[in-house]
Amino acid sequence: MQSIIFTNNAATQLCGELNQTKYDRLFILCDENTARLCLPRLKECDYMQNAVVITINADDTNKNLQSLTHVWQQLQQGNATRHSMLVNLGGGMVTDLGGFAASTFKRGIKFINIPTTLLSMVDASVGGKTGINFGGLKNEIGVFREAQQVIIDTNFLQTLDNENILSGYAEMIKHGLISNTADWAELLNQEPTSLSPEMLTSLLQKNIKVKERIVEADPNEQNLRKALNVGHTIGHALESLALTKGQPVLHGYAVAWGIICELYLCTIKTNFPIDKMRQTVSFIRQHYGMLAFDCNDYDQLCEFMTHDKKNTGSDINFTLLGDIGDIRLNQTATRNEIIEALDFFRDGM
Ligand code: GLY
Repeated sequence: MQSIIFTNNAATQLCGELNQTKYDRLFILCDENTARLCLPRLKECDYMQNAVVITINADDTNKNLQSLTHVWQQLQQGNATRHSMLVNLGGGMVTDLGGFAASTFKRGIKFINIPTTLLSMVDASVGGKTGINFGGLKNEIGVFREAQQVIIDTNFLQTLDNENILSGYAEMIKHGLISNTADWAELLNQEPTSLSPEMLTSLLQKNIKVKERIVEADPNEQNLRKALNVGHTIGHALESLALTKGQPVLHGYAVAWGIICELYLCTIKTNFPIDKMRQTVSFIRQHYGMLAFDCNDYDQLCEFMTHDKKNTGSDINFTLLGDIGDIRLNQTATRNEIIEALDFFRDGM
């Protein structure tokens, strides 16, 4: 199981970890933003002086084969061996792609994740999912391989805009929904973009434990880990639709919208309490706004859902809830039920 360390000083923590690790060459992967805004914070770790910095273009549209090839090439040109170490400094795009590059280079080198966005702290950098987008589909190619350590320093969040805080907060709401009523209510009672650093760290520490427990029980998503997919079947389809229309949205926004649709499915299929669905939907509508689409997009959305990795055969797989924390794995929904859920979403527009 990977260690997840909360710290106020990522440089000191990284130094300590590298000190205890045997490796020959050190590489650090950034995107153009984290190279500028976050890498300087690691300079006080002496090991960084000899690190080869690899930089890729930012944002999810660059989580592709071309960026991956660039990382492999830089590792090769820097004479990386199987005993080298890669540090991934960035959001989910960097930790997913860097984790995959490290997992495949010479059949696998060690890597450490230092997430710099709320989304990657609470979700992407934890639990060993690595990969890239391919053929228009998100995270289509990848492997499960955990980072040696995940170093969480919420000081990095000081440079994050409100949209990216909200994007990460959506995954926290998801963790609240699959956890218990107290955690869920606590999250809905906050104003995510005005949290004090102390409150955010405290919520984050509790929230990450939800994912940690689930990943520990089922690292390769054979069963319980599917709980982490609440909101994601429809959420990923909405994210792919927005990308296809040339108007990409942040992952967490798509997840929040997916939660609206899938909680509706829960009310009609697994008796999820309507009042709790309405409270969650109202919080999401208030903070995340809406995605504009119409019924002409339904075929395309259903097509995206049929490519979801969680499916077996032709059925579209959902993780639904009977109540907060009452997880129902391996549920399916008919096309008509999915369309009803999309109509419900659009009714709020
Ligand atoms: N983001 C869902 C998972 O890590 O399983």
